[in-house]
Amino acid sequence: MAEVVIVENAEAAGALVAQEIVELIDGRPDAVLGLATGSTPLPVYQALRERLAGRDVSQVRGFALDEYVGLDPAHSESYRSVITREVVEPLGLDPRRIHVPNGAQETIQHAGADYEEAIDAAGGVDLQILGIGTDGHIGFNEPGSSFASRTRVKTLTEQTREDNARFFDSIDDVPRHCITQGLGTILRARHLVLLAFGEGKAQAVADAVEGPLSAILPGSAIQLHPHATVVVDEAAASKLALADYYRYTFANKPSWQGI
Ligand code: PGA
Repeated sequence: MAEVVIVENAEAAGALVAQEIVELIDGRPDAVLGLATGSTPLPVYQALRERLAGRDVSQVRGFALDEYVGLDPAHSESYRSVITREVVEPLGLDPRRIHVPNGAQETIQHAGADYEEAIDAAGGVDLQILGIGTDGHIGFNEPGSSFASRTRVKTLTEQTREDNARFFDSIDDVPRHCITQGLGTILRARHLVLLAFGEGKAQAVADAVEGPLSAILPGSAIQLHPHATVVVDEAAASKLALADYYRYTFANKPSWQGI
């Protein structure tokens, strides 16, 4: 099962995950990071800003999880723009090594296959950062997504469009389609790190970690992964049946084991 780490707050989660990423890059300067957008990973990127300052990150590679279809990449809320603003520029990464699925309508029919090829050519993702939607999605794999799915176009649920409307002038501006790494794509990453904060995510976290394995709960796909870490605050952990066991396990973990 996934290792669950319950931390005091988002800042502590950011510090823990950033440390793991720094160690990864120290051991492998051309590490391949799986990058997530949304509010959740921001404390990780913030902590990385301090920890990576002064280090050579010119070889680091990255793959974003998803992108809106038909949104101009220059739009401030395209995930290309978000990744550039939140990750590439502040961390000083080489933009040519950071990939985002191509949501352009003209090439959308082969954009998924192209992205899979690019991930394979890079040797796969070393560490995949994940958020989770209130409806349980990871990436933009909405409920019903196949565990074997690959990068492809998905239709966003109304719930997701409402959740993301805060980034746009109005909900009418939120695209209806996205291109997202599939659950099968995500499961090929060597280490999954799923973060969640706040009570609003508690049910989705409980479903992902302890729920039945089901396409209706896309986050439950992480149960199939041999190395998945779930980092949550107390509020997001509040519906976990085994929360005390996770606390006990982490407190008694051998110091030589990372997350
Ligand atoms: P959030 O989104 O981090 O903005 O809550 C998570 C997600 O939709 O995957």
